[in-house]
Amino acid sequence: MRIIVEKDYHSMSKKAALMLSSQITLKANSILGLATGGTPLAMYDKLIEMYREGEVDFKRVQSFNLDEYCGLAAENENSYHYYMQHNFFKDINIKAENINIPDGSSSDLIQECQNYENKIKQSGGIDLQVLGIGENGHIGFNEPAEKLNVATNIVELTEETIKANSRYFASKDEVPQKAISMGMATILKAKRIILLASGKNKAEAIAKTVNGKISTQVPASLLQSHPRITLIVDQQAASLIN
Ligand code: F6R
Repeated sequence: MRIIVEKDYHSMSKKAALMLSSQITLKANSILGLATGGTPLAMYDKLIEMYREGEVDFKRVQSFNLDEYCGLAAENENSYHYYMQHNFFKDINIKAENINIPDGSSSDLIQECQNYENKIKQSGGIDLQVLGIGENGHIGFNEPAEKLNVATNIVELTEETIKANSRYFASKDEVPQKAISMGMATILKAKRIILLASGKNKAEAIAKTVNGKISTQVPASLLQSHPRITLIVDQQAASLIN
């Protein structure tokens, strides 16, 4: 596990954007795994800036997002479809047909999960997966549990995650209780992974990810088994690493 500690959120985001852009420079038709949430926002901003400066070209890039809430249509402002479009895709030249996000409004969610997993496989697999981390150590929406999902699946969100994500909704009651998420093996099959974390509230989860035992109770700890994982964290998030 390679760990890069940056001074703050801004430099962490810049470093992550540089890693993504060099991946695309090395392989123009890279397959990227993308995350939502607060953490990658400044990374997306930096990538948009680099695209405008002609430093990166998304014309041949394909993307697969980690997750999506169940029951929210793409137009819903709280959906991850909307987030990605609004915060990143509308400002770069990625082709619409190369964007993949699970459809949480599908009438057959089980089939949707299988189709999504198959599509990742058929694409040749994810070259670089970007992850954030929950305060409880979740990655994607793989929440701490006795058993974790292997492949893309429907997951129940924990009370803690619903509370954490309610900051984006009018009220906690509006946060969907279920989501579609890539499974642990889906994530671990990525050729390279970068995990971003910023702030004191992530310090404990990061310490457990780095120093803790591998446990399904801390899904991010499974990343210790990945041969090419880089953590890019700011000083606050790194503050409890041994
Ligand atoms: C988002 C995702 C989640 C978030 C995590 C951290 O697609 O899969 O695992 O990365 O909940 O969220 P923030 O960055 O908002 O703290």
